[in-house]
Amino acid sequence: MSKFDKILITGGAGFIGGHVVRLFVEKYPDSHIYNLDALTYAGNLENLKDIESKSNYTFLKADICDRNSIKDLFDKYQFSSVIHLAAESHVDRSITNPFAFVETNVIGTLNLLHVAHNHWKNDDDDHLFYHISTDEVYGTLGETGLFTETTAYEPNSPYSASKASSDHFVRAFGETYGLPYVISNCSNNYGPNQFPEKLIPLFINNIINNKPLPVYGDGNYTRDWLFVIDHAIAIDLIFEKGKVGETYNIGGFNEWKNIDLVKLLCQEMNEKLGRSKGKSEKLITFVKDRPGHDLRYAIDATKINKELGWKPSVTFPEGLAKTIDWYLNNETWLKHVTSGDYQKYYDKQYQ
Ligand code: NAD
Ligand code: DAU
Repeated sequence: MSKFDKILITGGAGFIGGHVVRLFVEKYPDSHIYNLDALTYAGNLENLKDIESKSNYTFLKADICDRNSIKDLFDKYQFSSVIHLAAESHVDRSITNPFAFVETNVIGTLNLLHVAHNHWKNDDDDHLFYHISTDEVYGTLGETGLFTETTAYEPNSPYSASKASSDHFVRAFGETYGLPYVISNCSNNYGPNQFPEKLIPLFINNIINNKPLPVYGDGNYTRDWLFVIDHAIAIDLIFEKGKVGETYNIGGFNEWKNIDLVKLLCQEMNEKLGRSKGKSEKLITFVKDRPGHDLRYAIDATKINKELGWKPSVTFPEGLAKTIDWYLNNETWLKHVTSGDYQKYYDKQYQ
């Protein structure tokens, strides 16, 4: 059995997971891709409408916090590898409810590790547990420097603490039980299908609806932005060629201060919406800062570049234009995800 035979992707109904599932279903017709997702507020099968009837694709509704059902699914489908993206992923939500982050990100990951290890430990087949993580585990940078794979972990939010903990468990299963694993830590993603709680889609949606753009603090926080398809391509490359037991950093070589990014977004949206110069910029509103707000993230992606030949293929202007166009052309998607509970979340977060 090869790791390519039966690939379990967790969190495939989410933003990044959806793009990874699509890439794998299309690129590997001889593999079977299982998308396991609990369909929380962030999971949306509308993201995968175009591939849902492919013969090498199966959706499994399950919660990684439920170890018995994960075990039953391993028994039934005999997964040869796991690409683990399912997580609670939004920092602001982790500040209001850290427990949900420990449950899904730590206990859920431990459940998957435990079940995968027990399932694979007595055969000599080719298996892989690929854990998708974040650059936020490294904490914050000052004005200079970059995160490398050897930067010490120093998580500052409940979200990043839970992701750091899950990374440690993955590594521990490798060291203690010999579980074949790889980990990648990526910078901020943007692109189609991102839930409008994160900066870029939230602000696109607010600009469309002429709502205030709530910039935290003074807006002088820096993030390193990567188009989501380039992340999916990096994940494929690491799955295929990454060295077992290694960590790879993935980043966009693309740092932006929030306030500059928001101004650029306003400019682009003015043009796309036929608004006069400076119109959307009037929506910018500085609001109370996020507690524990990390000043700057920036990835040194030299290792994946040198060892696996990866680099971003989409420039930021191209990626941003594609993203804006996608949201403007997918009004129904945006309406669906911003109805119901979203309004309650929004009012509480930005009251
Ligand atoms: P997302 O919030 O859009 O999607 C998460 C998915 O996980 C959803 O489909 C949700 O239904 C599912 N899920 C949540 N809890 C679950 C559970 N208990 N059982 C099964 N499924 C569950 O997240 P995303 O932005 O696509 O991030 C995916 C992964 O990539 C996460 O692990 C995140 O930490 C990591 N990551 C994200 C970014 C980013 O910029 N978004 C950057 C680096 C790393
Ligand atoms: O770095 C990778 C991480 O990027 C991922 O691990 C996380 O899952 C993902 O959510 C993202 O975390 P951030 O906290 O960096 O992303 P967010 O889009 O929430 O915020 C980006 C920046 O914009 C951050 O400095 C906070 C700021 N911001 C965000 C929101 C939602 C605002 O100023 N106003 C807002 O309303």
